[in-house]
Amino acid sequence: MELNLPDQQLMLFSEFVAQTIGLYFPPSRWPDLRRGVAAAAIELGIVDPINCARELMSAPLVQEHLDALAKHLTVGETYFFRESRSFEVLERHILPALIRSRQESGRRLRIWSAGCCTGEEPYSIAISLLRTIPDWSEWSITLLATDLNPNFLLKAESGIFGSWSFRNAPAEIKDRYFRAASDGRFEILPEIKRMVRFVQLNLADDAYPAAYDIQAMDVVFCRNVLMYFAPRQAKKVVENLCRAQTDDGWLIVSPSDSSNALGPGYRAVNFGEVMIYKKGTRPSIPQPQSTEPPATPVKLPTVRRSRRARRIAAIINPPQDAAALYAQGRYDEAADLLEKLLSDRPNDPAILGLLVRALANQGRLTEALDRCDQWIGADKLNPSSHYLRSVVLQEQNAVEGAVQSLQKALYLDPEFVLAHFALGNIIRNRGRAGEAHRHMNNALRSLRRFGPSDVLPESDGITAGRLAEIIGSMRNQEAVA
Ligand SMILES: C[S@@+](CC[C@H](N)C(=O)[O-])C[C@H]1O[C@@H](n2cnc3c(N)ncnc32)[C@H](O)[C@@H]1O
Repeated sequence: MELNLPDQQLMLFSEFVAQTIGLYFPPSRWPDLRRGVAAAAIELGIVDPINCARELMSAPLVQEHLDALAKHLTVGETYFFRESRSFEVLERHILPALIRSRQESGRRLRIWSAGCCTGEEPYSIAISLLRTIPDWSEWSITLLATDLNPNFLLKAESGIFGSWSFRNAPAEIKDRYFRAASDGRFEILPEIKRMVRFVQLNLADDAYPAAYDIQAMDVVFCRNVLMYFAPRQAKKVVENLCRAQTDDGWLIVSPSDSSNALGPGYRAVNFGEVMIYKKGTRPSIPQPQSTEPPATPVKLPTVRRSRRARRIAAIINPPQDAAALYAQGRYDEAADLLEKLLSDRPNDPAILGLLVRALANQGRLTEALDRCDQWIGADKLNPSSHYLRSVVLQEQNAVEGAVQSLQKALYLDPEFVLAHFALGNIIRNRGRAGEAHRHMNNALRSLRRFGPSDVLPESDGITAGRLAEIIGSMRNQEAVA
């Protein structure tokens, strides 16, 4: 089943995914995102993938939703002793230096495989430890392995692997550290298995739970993970990894992971062809800032007032109770309340605007369109009403009508960023690249009025910086094609 979301909505969903689990889906990867949401919808028992995307975005992510996204959006490529040169540096340089410095002071080592996938990486690290520290059983060794995808972790915990997992490992690895299992597979020896502790962890979370004891790590492996992350999320993850390390800790990433994310907390150290990162002695890691919009709608408290007070508030103020319900994703209740408010104030633009959104979010598109027309009649100079009309029309596949509404929105506000962007997308899909390019230029020009972390009007939370990134990556994609 494919998810037939219009590009505009897919863009918002990709932003939501970047904020919640860090993963970056530029337009070139939207087909993967569509497939992933369709599969997650089936798993969650939600009939329509479009509703699935809406439901996921409309409330804080519960574990079941997080698991479904993780299972269908992550990439699970890995094998034993992948990028073997990093393991050579670990065994020849990093571990011997750590052993020397810790020999007399506690014999303690802490290593973290962040984004461990199905376990090949942390078990390779365990084997490296055995090979480098002959008296390893007299050391206190922590080897933590974390991943977002619960299925990957189950496989990792089983310790059983097929031949494909050994595709680049020296033959002696399988012979010395594994025993035969059923179906021609191989099981890691129990003493190695016991060295690794697997835990589910979302690297995109702001703070890692203290319960997992993620601190004072001597070595962190985070390879082939950051390359899938949105650039700003990758940076945030690196800052968190840095905080979780000892002052002289090492970070091992893959050559494919952009070093742009590494920031001031680490300095690169060259070991021949391999670049490993050492934590600076005095890192200047900025504290996490909460300038970005929250990943999920803010949970507004439901305002409890007497009926009379509510009625007065409804007359004096915008419909705040309905806005609170809407912000909590309770669109049907919000719509009911707004319909009631309309009987007192039939042409109130604030009520009509919110009602259009509440109806559209439930998929009640015909009603949303009717109310939108009523809103336009009541508030003729408001560009947002035309823009929302275009969004509803796109959902109905009425593309020509959507173009006309976008043009009206732009006539009323020539700097309406999302209207330029939406028009550019529609025109690009019609194969008129040059014209689409001009609209994207207009969007970029209009973006200059905003700071990078400003949330754009009518965007449900997308920031100016993020839209600029998206347009940039669309451009790169077009240049490559
Ligand atoms: C390509 S694998 C890399 C595995 C291993 N590090 C290696 O280099 O062979 C990427 C892993 O990152 C995990 N991942 C993706 N997003 C994550 C997140 N937000 N938190 C934790 N792990 C994540 C995926 O589930 C996947 O197992």
